[in-house]
Amino acid sequence: MAHWVIVPAAGIGARMGSITPKQYLPLGGQTVLGQTLHRLASLPGLSRIVVALHPEDHFWPELELPAGVSVSACEGGSQRSQSVLNALQSLQDEAGDDDWVLVHDAVRPCVRVAEIATLLRDIAGHPCGGLLAVPVSSTLKRRDEAGNVAATLPRENVWQAATPQAFRAGLLRHALESALLRGAEITDEAAALELVGYSPRLVRGSADNIKITYPEDLDLAELILAAQQRETARAAD
Ligand code: C5P
Repeated sequence: MAHWVIVPAAGIGARMGSITPKQYLPLGGQTVLGQTLHRLASLPGLSRIVVALHPEDHFWPELELPAGVSVSACEGGSQRSQSVLNALQSLQDEAGDDDWVLVHDAVRPCVRVAEIATLLRDIAGHPCGGLLAVPVSSTLKRRDEAGNVAATLPRENVWQAATPQAFRAGLLRHALESALLRGAEITDEAAALELVGYSPRLVRGSADNIKITYPEDLDLAELILAAQQRETARAAD
């Protein structure tokens, strides 16, 4: 069965406070998106990676793409769900409804390929698919308007969603279309599947699969990539 990868990269990264969108900031001798694509390209058996881009993205043509895998681009939308749906539509003639589609944030360059393989193994017999996620370890607070604590939230069984999120192509299309039609605010693909009555599988991933959101996340990502390289070198010794 074919595996397709969608990388939503059409965000402008307002929280980063940088003129260059965060997916194009330098990281480990490449850009954030370059690192992410090279990681994804090392997944065995990939049919294609589709990257959803902002309509005014002028950085993409300069990006060094990974060799050995087909990478194409499509225009993203004003919401992440629309960007992912556009990418899915660009695959409509090739991807079968039962094929797996992995959606991975452009700004998660530290994802471990072995964990993506675990995700795919764990969801093999699942009715819709699943996602990498990490159980929440800190105490959670809700903030009031004045900036004080309004409540302490129970954290039992609360997980933080990451990516990749992998779903059957047909179901994902149906779920995203219905979320967009309803005007539902969804921030990941699993939420769209939940809205149409599915319970995606939570597959435990590593906390180092960080999402680059704030400037300090870039320094952290550099440290994580260096630590992962040392780990790989030790394992090869
Ligand atoms: O904005 P946020 O950090 O949630 O974005 C997560 C991912 O979704 C990023 O890779 C971003 O480029 C992408 N995105 C997109 N289209 C949008 C908004 C965000 O592809 N309209």
